[in-house]
Amino acid sequence: MKVTKVKIVNEGVVIEIPEGARFADYAKENSNMLFGCENAECATCLCTVIKGKELLNEPAHKEWLLLKQKSAYPNQRLGCQIYVKKEGVVEIEY
Ligand code: FES
Repeated sequence: MKVTKVKIVNEGVVIEIPEGARFADYAKENSNMLFGCENAECATCLCTVIKGKELLNEPAHKEWLLLKQKSAYPNQRLGCQIYVKKEGVVEIEY
């Protein structure tokens, strides 16, 4: 099984996430990152992808709209909408 190491930089935690898996399912268990609706509606999970953006899925329309509404930076994502697509190292801060 291919695994991506996702470092939550502000916590100093590294989570191993299998390719294709949803980031939130692992972040909820292994970090203090907060989630709310988990449906791209509340932005509680807004985070910054410092490294490895290309290893993740692209934001879908609903996520893109909320990020735009929040005036998010291009490297910001909704944690609940992140899926790991490729093997490697990702760094996220929230
Ligand atoms: S938890 Fe609500 S937008 Fe991600």
